[in-house]
Formats: sequence, C-alpha cells, structure tokens
Amino acid sequence: MEQEIQRIRENFFQEIQQVQSAKDVEAVRVKYLGRKGPVQQLFKQLGTLNPEDRPRVGKLLNTLRQELETAVKEKQQQFKTREKRERIDLSLPGRKPPVGRKHPLTQTLDEIKAIFTAMGFTVADGPEVETDYYNFEALNIPKNHPSRNMQDTLYITEDILLRTHTSPVQIRTMQSQQPPVRIIAPGRVYRRDTPDASHSPFFHQVEGLCVDHGISFADLKAVISEFARKMFGTDIKVRFRPSFFPFTEPSLEYDFNCVFCRGKGCKVCKYTGWMEISGAGMVDPNVFKAVGYDPETITGYAFGMGVDRIAMLKFGIDDIRLFFENDMRFLTQF
Ligand code: DAH
Repeated sequence: MEQEIQRIRENFFQEIQQVQSAKDVEAVRVKYLGRKGPVQQLFKQLGTLNPEDRPRVGKLLNTLRQELETAVKEKQQQFKTREKRERIDLSLPGRKPPVGRKHPLTQTLDEIKAIFTAMGFTVADGPEVETDYYNFEALNIPKNHPSRNMQDTLYITEDILLRTHTSPVQIRTMQSQQPPVRIIAPGRVYRRDTPDASHSPFFHQVEGLCVDHGISFADLKAVISEFARKMFGTDIKVRFRPSFFPFTEPSLEYDFNCVFCRGKGCKVCKYTGWMEISGAGMVDPNVFKAVGYDPETITGYAFGMGVDRIAMLKFGIDDIRLFFENDMRFLTQF
C-alpha cells in the first residue's frame, strides 16, 4: 500500500505538470481526488490492514491527499490570473484623454484683447461687486435719474451692488493715473433680466477708454471701424447713430454690417443689413470732474461692447443661454 501511495503521487504530479487549461486541472482533480479516484479507494482499504499498520498508513494517505489538493489549488489559481490577463485586449486602440479647450467667450475675448492691445490699449480690471458711486454717481448718473431704470440689478446693500456695466472701471482707472489713458476693461456684468435667447442676468462687456490732449471723435470712429474690420472682415462697414448716455456727450450707438448677409439684408438682421453693437461717445466733462481731470484741457472717448453678442455673431450662435449651461455637446463645437 505504501508503494501504491508513492505511485499515485508520481503519476499525479506528472499529469498536473502537463495541464493546459483550468478544465484540464479539473479533470485531473476528479481523476485522483474524486469519489471513485485512487485516493478514496485507498482510504476505503485502510480497514483491511493490520491494526498496527493502520495509523502510519492513514497518516501517509492524509499527507498524500493534502499534497494533491494543494497542487490542484495552485494550478487553478495560475489559470485564473492568466485568463484575467488575457481578457485585456492589447490590440484595442488606446483611449484618448479629452483635451481641454477655451470657452467660446474666452476665445472671443482673447481676440478682442489682441486687436485692441495691437492698437496700444492696455487691459484694466475692476470689481464685479461695485459701489453705487462707481457704477452710477461718478458716471454722471445721479440717484433717481431715469436712466437708472434701464440698469436694474441685485443690490447687496443700498450702496453696494453687482455692477451693471464695465463703465465703473473708467472711473477707477482715471482716479489711479494721469492722462494719457488708453485701456479696455473686459468683465462680467449683471442686470435684472429674465433669461431668453438674447438676455441673461449676467453677461460680458468690454469697456474702452482713451483720454489725452486733443482726442477727437475721429479717433473714436477710426478705432471702432478698425476693430470691426479686424474682427469680422474688411468689407464690414460701421454706422454711428446719435444716442444718449449720461457719461458721454455727445453720445452715439454704433452698428456693424450684418455679418451673415454682409449688409445685403437677411432674416437675422430683419432685412436692415445692420446689427446693433453698443454705445460710445466723448467723455462727459462731469465724469472728468469726478476724477479730478481738467475738462478744459483733456478730452477723450469711451465705448462699450457686448462680448456675448460678438461671440454669437462670430460663431453663428442664436441663444445666449448656451454659453452658460456647460453642455459639452455645445462647447466642444468651438
Ligand atoms: N455702459 C453702457 C451700457 O452698458 C455701454 C456704454 C455706452 C459704454 C457708451 C460706454 C459708452 O463707455 O461711452 O449700456
């Protein structure tokens, strides 16, 4: 019986060395350790041995069974990890990490900045939470002036509010330096507006301000026209219409040729050939007085501009709300 045990051991290890798959391992396990296998058979025969031999042979049998079970387990484990590794298909193309890009508004703003800095403007900055003084008063918009009605916003206190335009940066800049001043001030502004395709309670503006000795309306016209050509193409014409803003005198509104029909007239421009862009004018003497400049010797022009509006024209976007929804299906198109 001891010889039989040794023979089973040798045969088993020879076979288990040669298995090719988890299935083979299972077959070897059943063959040797199964109910009808040789190990079980020997256990059954234990009873036929001399009582004094039984403990020794029983021990040998137990050891054999343990050895075989351990070997089977090891092999099973080997095939399991190999199968797992094989499930990784190395021939698949790699996953490309998504590459970030600039928001269409940022792209537009970058372009606006590049055009104006090339003309000698520097970029200025101001707070979005503003005081009544900077947002209105210093811009020649006194309390209770009817023009305040067009620019309602969120008030934090009676004197602190979310700025309704970037014009307060004019005041802050002029307070901090002497002429010449030539700045653009981009930034976010707020109005109490119900969102629709062309309104959002927050949007973006670029303010422009140029102040020096002998600055005239001709300079304003030239700069705005140059901007239109650089932004939308040399065939785009600019039109100036008289208007009113409390901080400029005289004031005007300016239009560009419709960028879709290039001035011929289409549905987008309601067959006028023109698109309203924003306001501008010569800085009002009262504004100069508020910042301590002498209106007798200093002149200047200022203009506003809606970044969202320009981005919509540039990319052919018909709903301002799309800019602020963070929908990747929209954003990845630009
Ligand atoms: N601040 C004006 C607005 O938000 C736009 C504007 C008009 C700015 C005329 C100016 C200007 O600098 O001169 O409607």
